[in-house]
Amino acid sequence: MVNNPNKILAVQLRGVVKAYQVSAGKFTAIHHIDLDIVQGEFVAIVGQSGSGKTTLLNLLAGIDRPTSGEVLVADTSLGKLSESDLAEWRGKHVGLVFQFFQLLPTLTVVENVQLPMDFAKNIPTALRRTRALALLDRVGIKDQANKLPAMLSGGQQQRAAIARALANDPPILLCDEPTGNLDSANRLSVLKLFADLNAEGRTIVMVTHERDASSFTSRQVTLVDGRVAIPAGRS
Ligand SMILES: Nc1ncnc2c1ncn2[C@@H]1O[C@H](COP(=O)(O)OP(=O)(O)OP(=O)(O)O)[C@@H](O)[C@H]1O
Ligand SMILES: [Mg+2]
Repeated sequence: MVNNPNKILAVQLRGVVKAYQVSAGKFTAIHHIDLDIVQGEFVAIVGQSGSGKTTLLNLLAGIDRPTSGEVLVADTSLGKLSESDLAEWRGKHVGLVFQFFQLLPTLTVVENVQLPMDFAKNIPTALRRTRALALLDRVGIKDQANKLPAMLSGGQQQRAAIARALANDPPILLCDEPTGNLDSANRLSVLKLFADLNAEGRTIVMVTHERDASSFTSRQVTLVDGRVAIPAGRS
């Protein structure tokens, strides 16, 4: 699939290394990773704690910069962007979903969903609230729109965070253990929601410990000590 020349790549990592400066010297969290993700894939990133999953996702989101190598996402080489251009690019091209939702507690749910539209300014001001409500409807919690996040269940808060990630209609969703803080019923329904969003054409890269994730995702990438493990049966 990845080698098919007709497929458009959503993500290309070329020789990506990420080293952190630590008291003992240099710690390399990502060792020379080459990885292609085709547009429309739903990729699970798996691996033990400390294997580099969050580091990898942060590189794809342009939250972190590689020590060396090239990160291309949605046709943009992130290394070439200034900090402010990177923040603007991120707001328009990737949607981020985290384990602990990270909704702003003093804003209502619909205001949380509207916020990325206010930053990116892609969508006319007059249409933003209507779009935020439509996204909340899409994720099944329109009736919670005017509540503060703390009044929602964990599953509802994650749905609100997913609606927020979709605010600017990004082609790629990057999700770091999005079901890690949910009960089993909510875990499955959030995975199903991601599968539906993927079926609509959105590329999804999801860090997960979820055993059942493979029935929803199209590919699994395993990290071992900052390297991509070669799938069994291939060399
Ligand atoms: N800012 C940092 N400074 C120094 N070392 C770091 C930093 N961030 C991460 N690391 C180290 O890099 C390695 C990879 O961390 P990372 O957070 O990517 O792992 P992970 O696979 O997401 O783990 P988990 O499943 O526990 O979330 C770990 O050994 C971690 O201690
Ligand atoms: Mg992590």
